[in-house]
Amino acid sequence: MNTIEDLKEGRIPAHLAIIMDGNGRWAKQRGKLRVFGHENGVQSVRDAVETSGKLGIKYLTLYAFSTENWNRPKLEIDSLMSLLVASLRKEVKTLHKNNIRLNAIGRIDSLPRKVLRQLNEVMEQTRQNTAMTLTLALSYGSREELTSAFKAIASKVKNNIISPDNIDETIINDHLYTHNLPDVDLLIRTSGEHRISNFLLWQIAYAELYFTETFWPDFREEHLLEAIKSYQNRERRFGKTSEQIH
Ligand code: IPE
Ligand code: IPE
Ligand code: MG
Repeated sequence: MNTIEDLKEGRIPAHLAIIMDGNGRWAKQRGKLRVFGHENGVQSVRDAVETSGKLGIKYLTLYAFSTENWNRPKLEIDSLMSLLVASLRKEVKTLHKNNIRLNAIGRIDSLPRKVLRQLNEVMEQTRQNTAMTLTLALSYGSREELTSAFKAIASKVKNNIISPDNIDETIINDHLYTHNLPDVDLLIRTSGEHRISNFLLWQIAYAELYFTETFWPDFREEHLLEAIKSYQNRERRFGKTSEQIH
């Protein structure tokens, strides 16, 4: 059994990112509509935020809605958006009480107005909080993020604000939605799919990857602790040899 106390003796990821997948299949297994899976996934989000807080994780980033997810049936998109508004409204107090700052990445301006309004309200209310930054990836796609960054940089080059010779990794990083977040240390994907689905391609360059068969609505503290345990058993070499690390 992994306990939070034991794990805290070891290395804790500064930035944990999660691809929360499998809500639809979880619901289907129970003979229910996909939206039932999304509704039950909300408790897993609460659980992940709480456990991450207890572990002392400073940055938690959750993939909630991708640019590709706009291609789903309208009914499913509408219920996801309503669920988002309701959850934000319900959780703002708890977030604030736990000193958590809410942040969002993605084409935020493409979200329905009611979502945008609620999101901005919670971000504003929690702006000063310092224990953890909880980032929701909404209407997020890594290629879209990189494309926007390159466009912004190109325009600065054109206006002589940046010289092409000075473009480096820091400048690219500064133009991403994640400019105020560190690189991802650990990426978890639930539901047995072994793919990245256009999530944080630049930011996971050296992340440890963890895949689990568990569907997102079943993902609880014990599963997260298992992932952290696996992370602690990895040797992160960043290109060096094992001997250089020790
Ligand atoms: C993840 O679960 C939630 C979102 C993508 C919004 P899915 O809805 O993708 O569920 P599956 O993968 O179809 O089971
Ligand atoms: C990735 O899950 C996006 C989110 C978890 C929000 P998907 O279910 O949309 O990914 P694919 O389509 O299986 O790659
Ligand atoms: Mg899925």
